[in-house]
Amino acid sequence: MRRARDEEKPPVYRPQNLRIPGPTFVPQTVLSASARPMINHRGPEFAALLAALTRALQDFLRTQGDVFLLTASGSGGMEAAIANTLSSGDKAIVFINGAFGERFFSICKSYGVDARRVDVPLGRPVEPDLVREELAKEKGKDSAKAVLLQHNETSTGVLNPLKEIAEVVRESGKLLVVDSVSGAGACELEIDEWGIDVCVTASQKAWGAPPGIAMITMSDNAWKAYERSNLPKAYFDLATYKTALEKGATPATPAVSVVIALQESLRLMAEEGLEAILRRHRDIARATRRGLAAVNLSLFADEAHASPAVTSFRPPTRVDARNLIRVLRDDYDTIVAGGQGKLEGQLVRVGHMGFVTMTDMVAFFSALELALKDFNQPVEPGQAIAAALRAYAETSTQPGSPGGKGISRAASVARNAARAEAVGSRR
Ligand SMILES: Cc1ncc(COP(=O)(O)O)c(C=O)c1O
Repeated sequence: MRRARDEEKPPVYRPQNLRIPGPTFVPQTVLSASARPMINHRGPEFAALLAALTRALQDFLRTQGDVFLLTASGSGGMEAAIANTLSSGDKAIVFINGAFGERFFSICKSYGVDARRVDVPLGRPVEPDLVREELAKEKGKDSAKAVLLQHNETSTGVLNPLKEIAEVVRESGKLLVVDSVSGAGACELEIDEWGIDVCVTASQKAWGAPPGIAMITMSDNAWKAYERSNLPKAYFDLATYKTALEKGATPATPAVSVVIALQESLRLMAEEGLEAILRRHRDIARATRRGLAAVNLSLFADEAHASPAVTSFRPPTRVDARNLIRVLRDDYDTIVAGGQGKLEGQLVRVGHMGFVTMTDMVAFFSALELALKDFNQPVEPGQAIAAALRAYAETSTQPGSPGGKGISRAASVARNAARAEAVGSRR
């Protein structure tokens, strides 16, 4: 029946509200940057671009250590993290609280790492006490060399308490390898201060650039581990990236257009400022949770560990999440994600990372309210929207709010400019 209705739709362009947890919305200036004429990836222009971009990433990731750009998606970065720091037969502990923890585990296995999995119920965080207990089992010379986990487990919408976990791991002297593919740029992350040895993120997540680049950091300890590591590495050999970076290049041809785009998105982000960005994510995530709760949808992650980047919720009883997602897409041009792996069909995940505004979320809630009505759910018009907006009003991230928790006028003007740009590109 729905198909027949689709066929009757007039062929007009209808902008989508892309609310998946990556790839995220890309502002028009970032898209335009990616369409600039090609440049020589071994020339001075690219060298200057790479140097500036590396410095900007160090600022955002809060590290003085190495940051490399790999032409890969986030999973390539995860593979590089393992291949460059571990050896065959090395033991490693992988904490798993979602699909991306499974991915870390399976990459370890593919490389012959003796990974021990520690499973945490889906929807729950990896607790620092659990990490302490598991590390206590690892004593002696054959003990685990590294701890691997996600910062933000995108598949469940759980933010692991990385700062506290890192403290525990640091005391043990083990290497800490973190997948912050969807966390960095949206959630608090202090690579040097917290003592994270290797951290991976990706251009299409909170960075608001097109997919194609993974970013990876290496601490001094990670380099010591590199020296001992005997796992095969060629394209992802990070020593070749270090040597090339000193010459202002990458070992092989990079995704030049994505590098240029990323520089532009980092420029927009620098104008807003990291603190303001993190606050915006927190405020929007909180408003999103309030909006969902107002229409009796149950949140998958508890409030204390809910991700600032993505919110997962269960569909109403007797509604298959896949159907709700289809109606949101086909009838209301709102693209959200479903559950992954064991959670397939059980969850809806709405992304709010990168260049996202409260207005985007109001549009999401209007689509959701209409879709819920289609499923005969008792929803009053504006019920979720009002709750979300009320929660947002309790915060002061909104443009024009007096004082705005110390956001400078310049930053707020810059943010509004970026926002205007972003809105323009939706037309
Ligand atoms: C936490 C996390 N890790 C790893 C990945 C894999 O990244 P990619 O799809 O870019 O390979 C994702 C992608 O969604 C992610 O969210």
